[in-house]
Amino acid sequence: MSNIHTYESPSNIALIKYWGKHGNQLPNNPSISFSLSNSKTITSIEYKKAEANIEFYFEDKRNLDFEKRIKTFLNNNKGILAFINDYSLKISSKNTFPHSAGIASSASAFSALSACLISIKQDLGYKVDNFEKEVSTLARLGSGSASRSVYEGVVLWGKTDLIKNSSNEYAIPINDNIHDIYKNYHDDILIVEEETKSVSSSAGHKLMDINPYRTEKYNQSNINLKNILSALKTGDLDLFINIVENEALALHAMMMISEPSFILMKPKTLEIINAVRNFRQETKIPLCFTLDAGPNVHLLYPDRYFSKIQSFIKTLNTKNIINDFLGNGILQV
Ligand code: PMV
Repeated sequence: MSNIHTYESPSNIALIKYWGKHGNQLPNNPSISFSLSNSKTITSIEYKKAEANIEFYFEDKRNLDFEKRIKTFLNNNKGILAFINDYSLKISSKNTFPHSAGIASSASAFSALSACLISIKQDLGYKVDNFEKEVSTLARLGSGSASRSVYEGVVLWGKTDLIKNSSNEYAIPINDNIHDIYKNYHDDILIVEEETKSVSSSAGHKLMDINPYRTEKYNQSNINLKNILSALKTGDLDLFINIVENEALALHAMMMISEPSFILMKPKTLEIINAVRNFRQETKIPLCFTLDAGPNVHLLYPDRYFSKIQSFIKTLNTKNIINDFLGNGILQV
């Protein structure tokens, strides 16, 4: 007899970026993100007691590349998932956004997968004290940013004296001290390029080990963390915008001066960045941009400016847009 668990989990966009790690997927600096609503992964695991076996289907087709990555992840984490030696797992996953959209899906994928795995662990009678904490810990071991997708709203991952109960091992939600202006905050993702990126995040993190500016970068991110906590509390959008754009550009600056060096922004990325800054100056509308490790631009702004921003976006002539906004963490389906 087989049983099944299904979870959906959102992607998230980092305001303070995680870039560089040590030990077993521990971050070199704390990061803060918004969990999103529309960019999600939905994963099911059907499991039965049998000879150990793993099959992975992405969008209804067996996908051996992903399967290999998941097998490595499961084997590396047998300490948490002791049951996998005696069970056969059929994993099926799909995204609500096109795989080719160039959106990093590892955060939503590993958090949805981890939620299913910890549910199975619970079913089989293993002790799970705090479900979300265990999911976040396991998700982190697959992809650092996935630890944050477990929770709704504003999420912190990484130890800091500024927030009680913060940890390098798992993320925590920090929605208690957030100003109303961030309610339903928007993230319109402008797809500049649909190709997969030219540097994997694991290779990118590694480059920070030998980056000559690393100490300065982490000092700056820690100052940014302190200031963004204040901007999130008071609703000071000028401060918020300064920090968010600084973090995005610092991430790309680190890649540009790494050895080897990567330039992931495209001419269109810079065109949009300049247009955003001009628009903000002319209209005084608090629109800002952020970037992941790729050329696509995320536009962040308060809910009340939605229609004005849509008219602005039309002038940018981008191929594809995903309208997203702050949302939930993992949900059982
Ligand atoms: O979770 P990873 O290993 O894919 O790294 C994510 C890194 C960034 O997206 C660039 C920043 C972040 O904090 O999400």
